[in-house]
Amino acid sequence: QIPANIASVNDYIPYARERMSAAAWAYVSGGAADELTMADNEAAFQRLRIQPRVLACLAGASTELELFGSRLPYPILLAPVAYQRLAHHDGELASVLGASALRATMVVSTQASVTLEDLSASAQSPLWFQLYIQPDRDFTIALIRRAEQAGYQALVLTADAPVNGVRNREQRAGFSLPEHIQAANLRGMRPPPAQHAAAGGSGLFGGPLPALAPTWEDLRWLVQQTRLPVVLKGINTAHDAQQALDNGAAGLVVSNHGGRTLDTLPAAIDALPSVVQAVAGRVPVLLDGGIRRGTDVFKALALGATATLIGRPYIYGLAAAGAPGVAHVLHMLRTELEVTMALAGRPRLHDIDASAVMR
Ligand code: FNR
Repeated sequence: QIPANIASVNDYIPYARERMSAAAWAYVSGGAADELTMADNEAAFQRLRIQPRVLACLAGASTELELFGSRLPYPILLAPVAYQRLAHHDGELASVLGASALRATMVVSTQASVTLEDLSASAQSPLWFQLYIQPDRDFTIALIRRAEQAGYQALVLTADAPVNGVRNREQRAGFSLPEHIQAANLRGMRPPPAQHAAAGGSGLFGGPLPALAPTWEDLRWLVQQTRLPVVLKGINTAHDAQQALDNGAAGLVVSNHGGRTLDTLPAAIDALPSVVQAVAGRVPVLLDGGIRRGTDVFKALALGATATLIGRPYIYGLAAAGAPGVAHVLHMLRTELEVTMALAGRPRLHDIDASAVMR
């Protein structure tokens, strides 16, 4: 089922593209506007060089870490990605099985195309739930309770997408969600207020969205609603990192949403150091955006990330080969990370410090 000539994550791209409709491919693989941030997410990793230590003792080498009280075998998680049935008919169910096989934690999107309960019923590895605060707060609470009840271990509040980015590639491809694919977790939600233009206004600012966009107050509210750790996703500056901690976040994800929201944000790996400095070890700082190699994971850890997440790479594996494709992508990245750690003479995660990269 897995094509024999696949040796790296990006080798999945042509197979995934072939199996998806052109419009769905544009949705998954595209970014915002000119896709400068999306491209830079990868390019910035490629600009960094590793500084190795030879003849280091490798006995006891390990990629294990602890995160929010759980032991993870290696620092790679599956990022929340909406509507995975666009990539494969089993959608998120196949991703959960792939993650389970490799004991990886998966972050399930609010906009998953399979219900969070069906996913937890199939999962053999930890799940976190990514939350978009809904206009209807009672419905939002109900979602949180469902995630708690189903055994999800953390909530990830996505802060960087109160409105959709300008997704030109999707527009050109004429993407719209096929009727048989839906946000399964949001069934029964009162529809958001209609996009009527307020008096004197027009477009985005004339409609209801600005007033519905979550604020820091909503983060404080959310933290009080749950005993799960609340991780804030979409942090890019020291200022926002400080605000996040002041308002109760238990962890951060440095992320630009894979370059899908605001184009010309800095690459995630370039935004990481200032966030790490502001956080000063008080909470875990995760990173996503542009990870395509084990060396990328290594570089993120060297610049202060506790762990990393991948988005498109596992969706490409999913589209091309279902659950085994997801597992294979995780396996390749994990193996590359181990090889990198061995060759760089950093046998444990805490050995991977700033001295391991050259900027
Ligand atoms: C995403 N991402 C995302 N993030 C989120 O918080 N909720 C979501 O529903 C989605 N949906 C989504 C769909 C698709 C098709 C993509 C590609 C991405 C962003 C995702 O969690 C992550 O930040 C990026 O994918 C990381 O970048 P890479 O690994 O794709 O380069």
